[in-house]
Amino acid sequence: MKVCIIGTGYVGLVTGACLAELGNTVICVDNDEKKIEMLERGQVPIYEPGLEEILRNCHAKDRIRYTTSIAEGVKASEIVFIAVSTPARPDGSADLTAVAAVAREVAENLDGYKIVVDKSTVPVKTGEKVAETIRRYSAESVEFDVVSNPEFLREGSAIYDTFHPDRIVIGTASEKAARALTDLYQPLDAPVIITDINSAEIIKHASNSFLATKISFANALSRICEKAGANVEEVTRGMGLDKRIGTQFLNAGIGYGGSCFPKDVSAFVKISEELGYDFRLLKEVERINREQIDFFFEKIKQTLWILEGKQLGILGLAFKPNTDDMRNAPSLVLIDRLLKEGASIKAYDPQSMDKAREELEGIQYCSDPYQAAEGSEALIILTEWNEFKEMDLQRIKGLLHHPIVIDGRNIYDPARMRELGFTYQSVGRF
Ligand code: UDX
Repeated sequence: MKVCIIGTGYVGLVTGACLAELGNTVICVDNDEKKIEMLERGQVPIYEPGLEEILRNCHAKDRIRYTTSIAEGVKASEIVFIAVSTPARPDGSADLTAVAAVAREVAENLDGYKIVVDKSTVPVKTGEKVAETIRRYSAESVEFDVVSNPEFLREGSAIYDTFHPDRIVIGTASEKAARALTDLYQPLDAPVIITDINSAEIIKHASNSFLATKISFANALSRICEKAGANVEEVTRGMGLDKRIGTQFLNAGIGYGGSCFPKDVSAFVKISEELGYDFRLLKEVERINREQIDFFFEKIKQTLWILEGKQLGILGLAFKPNTDDMRNAPSLVLIDRLLKEGASIKAYDPQSMDKAREELEGIQYCSDPYQAAEGSEALIILTEWNEFKEMDLQRIKGLLHHPIVIDGRNIYDPARMRELGFTYQSVGRF
């Protein structure tokens, strides 16, 4: 099929790459000329395992191309995906300016029946607005259908997730559009849910909010476990083996971050409010998440007492492993507070340091974990990269000024760390 993807962020670019890999002809559109030039040169503006290879492969086979022109993309395609960003406004609601502008431009370039698919995460009823906009700005005789097809990929495993989705959600009133989308995704062996647009839009916000709720539940448990002398990992393992609960997304740590959960939870609170429902449960989920980083900061202070003039080594800056993404990374909040207390920071992250440099000044960036440990009063773990799990801990111990590790991701076994002679603090464990 001929597919156009508007927006080359994580979702757009990965979707475009995977659809091209499945044999479709894809045209990716972005209004950022620099991004398009980079992509044409074979460079990928984001770090996502496997993405560069697929793009290179598909480009060589002429299955994917790039342009800054929506007109060109729309005219060349049967299905047009909108995958532009929907950032949070200061009040937590989603800013739909880009979606509206794209819908209008798509409408102005419709030259025959097309299916316009919204992949961006949007508030319920956006599909209706997109359809209204297209009707208003397109030629009267032209036919089109609007579909909501939310994306559930995770950064760091985006390619795998796209090829192995748990489900594909297709929200539309049109049988013809539902059939076309089902055909497009047919090579993926996944259950397809065909539903109305409003339900599809809510599925996305409800799913991310539920996952964030699981994380906040685990983080609340970590606080209780510390007070009670219990181990949160044992507790969540014991809970998770109940199939109705499941083991995933119950890892306590320093709170969720990234480009989706914080934004989607606050958007869902706002959407509910506008619909006349006070989603207090989700407000509490957000509060627990904010408090988790305060609690971790206090843990550092309790261990090290006065931070003024102390050098700290930080391992991990990205909001999670296998990505270079720094959006809403808990490390940003924590490092800011440590700097305000007068600490000096030596930090290392395997992928995100270029992006971190744009936001985090006044810290020293290191070339490996050992350099970050050298001469530091303590080592603080903020992202659970495999590289940190596999470090030479004896060497780390020798490099640290004091053998103290404060682990926000529970990556080491407390008993082993004690055996190695570390003072070791983690989250919700003893
Ligand atoms: C998330 C959803 O998983 C995905 O379906 C959606 O499309 C986009 O949002 P992503 O933001 O890439 O994906 O990362 P994810 O792996 O879900 O992690 C989000 C945050 O939660 C990270 O900060 C992570 O560290 C944190 N997390 C996750 C925990 O603190 N504990 C857990 O058990 C799981």
